[in-house]
Amino acid sequence: MIHEFDAVIVGAGGAGLYAALEASKTAKTAVVSKLYPTRSHTGAAQGGIGAALGNVDEDNPKWHAFDTIKGGDYLVDQQAAKILAEEAVQAVYDLENRGLPFSRTPEGRIDQRRFGGHTRNFGEAPVHRSCYAADRTGNMILQTLYQQCIKNQVHFFDEFQVLELLLEGTRVGGLVVFELATGEVHVFKAKAVLFATGGFGRMYRITSNAHANTGDGPAVVMRAGIPLEDMEFFQFHPTGIKDMGILITEGVRGEGGILLNRDGERFMERYAPTLLDLAPRDMVSRAIMTEIQEGRGMRGDRRIDDYVMLDASHLGREVVERKIPDIADFCKTYLAVDPAEKPMPVQPTAHYAMGGIPTDVDGRVTTAETVYEGLYAAGECACVSVHGANRLGTNSLVDLVVFGRRAGRHIAEYVTGAGQSRIPSDAGEQMRRRIADLKREDGAHPGPVYERMQSTMMENVGVYRDHERMTRGLADIRELREAFKEVRVQDKQSRFNSEVLGILELENLLDLSLVTAASALNRTESRGAHSRVDYTERDDDRWLKHTLAQVEDGEVHIAYKSVDTSIWEPKPRTY
Ligand code: FUM
Repeated sequence: MIHEFDAVIVGAGGAGLYAALEASKTAKTAVVSKLYPTRSHTGAAQGGIGAALGNVDEDNPKWHAFDTIKGGDYLVDQQAAKILAEEAVQAVYDLENRGLPFSRTPEGRIDQRRFGGHTRNFGEAPVHRSCYAADRTGNMILQTLYQQCIKNQVHFFDEFQVLELLLEGTRVGGLVVFELATGEVHVFKAKAVLFATGGFGRMYRITSNAHANTGDGPAVVMRAGIPLEDMEFFQFHPTGIKDMGILITEGVRGEGGILLNRDGERFMERYAPTLLDLAPRDMVSRAIMTEIQEGRGMRGDRRIDDYVMLDASHLGREVVERKIPDIADFCKTYLAVDPAEKPMPVQPTAHYAMGGIPTDVDGRVTTAETVYEGLYAAGECACVSVHGANRLGTNSLVDLVVFGRRAGRHIAEYVTGAGQSRIPSDAGEQMRRRIADLKREDGAHPGPVYERMQSTMMENVGVYRDHERMTRGLADIRELREAFKEVRVQDKQSRFNSEVLGILELENLLDLSLVTAASALNRTESRGAHSRVDYTERDDDRWLKHTLAQVEDGEVHIAYKSVDTSIWEPKPRTY
């Protein structure tokens, strides 16, 4: 079946919905999403969206931009960070005007809480910058934007999985997509395509990411011949529920929660004397791992399961129930712990990809030399780059709202002047054959490949890295890509065949694991979330540059792109 639209948005999280909302002002717009839109992973973002409103403390977008750049260990493109911080303010008010129910100050203004790495006056002290709706901020953004898209008559294709990007040279033609309900392969012809498929944390064993976060957009884009940027930088959020990885928002620490080791010591005093528990995430995750490795963690079943405690009990039941109600529910459900009474057992959890599809500040996919006409990306799957080597908490929601909106506006203008797109006459055939082949004969079950990929990435390309471990991780991933060739579905039906979907997702994760491990091994320095025990220092002389990585014939090819440091000169990071 062939569908024709001006614009097709892949993914119905915050970035995709905001882009669709803007694009649909002039363009016939479709959203293709593998989930029902309001189940997208943006809904899991808890603690808030950063914007220098100054409702609680004095604040300034310039300080927000500076914190973002410093937090990203100076690998951030600085003009893009300036746009992020400046446009965040209006973006929050626009969401409020569209109906988002933000939590309020006693005077009725949007309330703000503190978050890691966000400071006043260039690092003096933590600032209240995160605008929030209890601990359901992302969910509220999704509900608000979805309703607005429905009002704008955006066409939704729910439970459709993207398979292939159709390019004619460097110009977009459309997409090939798999419909889960029927097993049919559809072709979408479009003048503009935007990827907003979110992250790929499922490549790790312990992750805060939903099962659906399998990097479909970046993998499909890379298979179309476009390199991915800065894939070595993967963020571990310091506080996931022990063993499960489910997110415990940094908002807990923003409200005054503290981290404790097995001796009851507030250990962040030793690692970040000024910002303490509200230092940037890379530093807090490393501090926790160091406490554990040096024997000061609480004991898990095995040594690698050791953890620390996050204590919010001193905040009192009223604060816990009003400001972090979902966290209280998660802890009671999964741990039988009431955070108003007892500390929560936590450990770092794979949370966010700083790298992804390279774009400019209007969401256009662009490498050092090429701008791909009609091709866009926004949100976590994109690399603008505003997060550099380490994203600050709350900046993911800012990123997807600010750059989703900018990309949507650019698309609205672009499609009015763009000619008809062209697709090959046999578009979709290769994917039909591929799916038929997965069902044709019996073969191996994908489960063991999936599990080994997650373990090797966790153990070898995690919070702390070195040459030996990353080499082992890379070799494992290469082996698993070979084993994957023998994988087949056991269920041969067409309708709702989630096994087919699972195998396609696994292929995407394996491709992205390969570039992540290879890019990490290649970067011989420590910067932000990429922390090597064999190269402990940041090395601006050699490595103040973005990585562009591409897989061809199973080999990873790496090139570089310069970093925009036009506002602040890179300095050592202290907090
Ligand atoms: O901790 C959190 O609430 C997560 C927020 C984020 O990743 O920005």
